[in-house]
Amino acid sequence: VHTFTSHCAIVSQTRTLGSAGLCSILRVYNFDEFILSNNDVVLRSIAEDLRNCLPIEAMLNSEHLAIQKILEQPEPTVHVDAFLYDDDIIDSLCEKGKMSRNYCVVCGSHKTAPLEFISHSFSLMELKFLYQYALPDLTGKILVDVGSRLGAVLFGGYLYSSASQLYGVEMNADFCQLQEMIITKYQFTDRVKVLHSDICTQASLLQNADVVVMNNVFEYFLNRLEQARAWEFISHNMRKKGSLLVTVPSLEESISNLQTDILLSQWVEEMKLDYDVYMEKDIDREALEEIHLYKIL
Ligand SMILES: C[S@@+](CC[C@H](N)C(=O)[O-])C[C@H]1O[C@@H](n2cnc3c(N)ncnc32)[C@H](O)[C@@H]1O
Repeated sequence: VHTFTSHCAIVSQTRTLGSAGLCSILRVYNFDEFILSNNDVVLRSIAEDLRNCLPIEAMLNSEHLAIQKILEQPEPTVHVDAFLYDDDIIDSLCEKGKMSRNYCVVCGSHKTAPLEFISHSFSLMELKFLYQYALPDLTGKILVDVGSRLGAVLFGGYLYSSASQLYGVEMNADFCQLQEMIITKYQFTDRVKVLHSDICTQASLLQNADVVVMNNVFEYFLNRLEQARAWEFISHNMRKKGSLLVTVPSLEESISNLQTDILLSQWVEEMKLDYDVYMEKDIDREALEEIHLYKIL
């Protein structure tokens, strides 16, 4: 029941049977402990499609700077995309020897230390926290995901919110193509659009957005000068009073080591998030606490 093959089977059967059909399927499959919502099933199916198109680290050769930055990390670090690989999948890949959570600190000895994992996407858990708890009702609202990569924020927004338009802006053409493939296959075209573009050319999109999402968007992909320029562009153009900005990590942390003219206290007010409202099992509270929400003043 927990394999992705059966998730896909349920997705396709649900499309033809509707919600009553889904109920009977759920009874037949007898899910233990929790009922998997149909939207979770669709997102897991999308993740499976994308896993099949990407190398295991979900990085592309075209991402020179990001690859170089990972190699420069003080601790040995691997890319594990949290949207594509949840803990159960990582465990099963480790069992098969295809992935490791540890590295040998003294060659030939049995001493090992845990590897640092870096994800370039939100996990399913983070997406649900974002749309079901952190953000208000998005009916009729425009959301922009800056650096949409695999499209996790857009697909999550399509399934878990009523946002009228979800725009992804991604500078890497290969990732734009992957997002387009999913948008077409899952028929998200009515509300999701991806622009192959540098966000610094999208002033009017930012000016009209009701919600802007920025998950670790610049740090690994731009040099410090470019990061400073990009943050200034965002802060100059995201000015609609009352619009919302979601960042990982906090704005303070993102810009603290950059030379910018941004005065946070005049631009935004942080909205405190209640990380305890999210009661699903397997929550990674540390990851949730990295999510920050701001209101534009
Ligand atoms: C960490 S990923 C974010 C993934 C996605 N938003 C999510 O939360 O699942 C950051 C992405 O931002 C893209 N990016 C970085 N700088 C950008 C820029 N100036 N304009 C557009 N995309 C950018 C990178 O290519 C990368 O794919």
